[in-house]
Amino acid sequence: MNRKVLIAGNWKMYKTGLEAVQTAKKLTVLCTNVEDTEVMIAPSYLSLPLVAQVFQNTNIKTGAQNLYFEKEGAFTGEISADMIKSAGAEYVLIGHSERRQFFGETNASVCKKIKAAIQSGLKPILCIGETEIQRNEEKTFGVLENQISDGLKGFGLGELGDLVIAYEPVWAIGSGKTANIEQVAEVHQYLRSVLEKLFSKDLADGTRILYGGSVKPANIKEFMSIDNVDGALVGGASLDVSNFIQIIQFGV
Ligand code: PGA
Repeated sequence: MNRKVLIAGNWKMYKTGLEAVQTAKKLTVLCTNVEDTEVMIAPSYLSLPLVAQVFQNTNIKTGAQNLYFEKEGAFTGEISADMIKSAGAEYVLIGHSERRQFFGETNASVCKKIKAAIQSGLKPILCIGETEIQRNEEKTFGVLENQISDGLKGFGLGELGDLVIAYEPVWAIGSGKTANIEQVAEVHQYLRSVLEKLFSKDLADGTRILYGGSVKPANIKEFMSIDNVDGALVGGASLDVSNFIQIIQFGV
């Protein structure tokens, strides 16, 4: 099964519009010859249309960091999937652990958001991961399975073609700690088996599963050498183009 590597940068709540555009322009130049790897940047909502414009007619994709699942209405402060799509995004992160931790995101709201994303033609990147306490209590597999099965509840086989999963152990995000090779290999293989059990072997084989959590130029090669790791979701190290390009070109 041919799964194109995806290296995605999550800029979180960093960069003003001007800073985002300047960074996007630099990245565009550096990525001119990148072909075998798909590159995506998820800037803030405000920078999204500006960054999408910089990436127009380039090989870099734009994504949002979240959406609200209602189509439209009196939901002050929220942004719909259609708005994101029309601003030039192709991808959207759903259920990032910071959203779960600080903004009350649940598997049920994640499920509604994935549905809204797909209905608007956005490709969802479903973010999952266990906390340190859950790992220590040996609950990792159960937590991850619930995040997938509840997050994807009610979907038919044909509806999830563009789904991407990002496994990000919560304790590895922004902490400088990373999961070790054995932990990542074990989890990614498990996640693919969960997709197969819930949907089909074809869907499981075709779904890209990214690793995230303190991915850096120094460790990307190691992660990408693991079976079932199809790319990375990068936070801190995506903010600086000289770091991010080294991650994108991990195989060069
Ligand atoms: P990090 O963030 O690379 O800074 O650990 C990853 C993420 O939150 O997606």
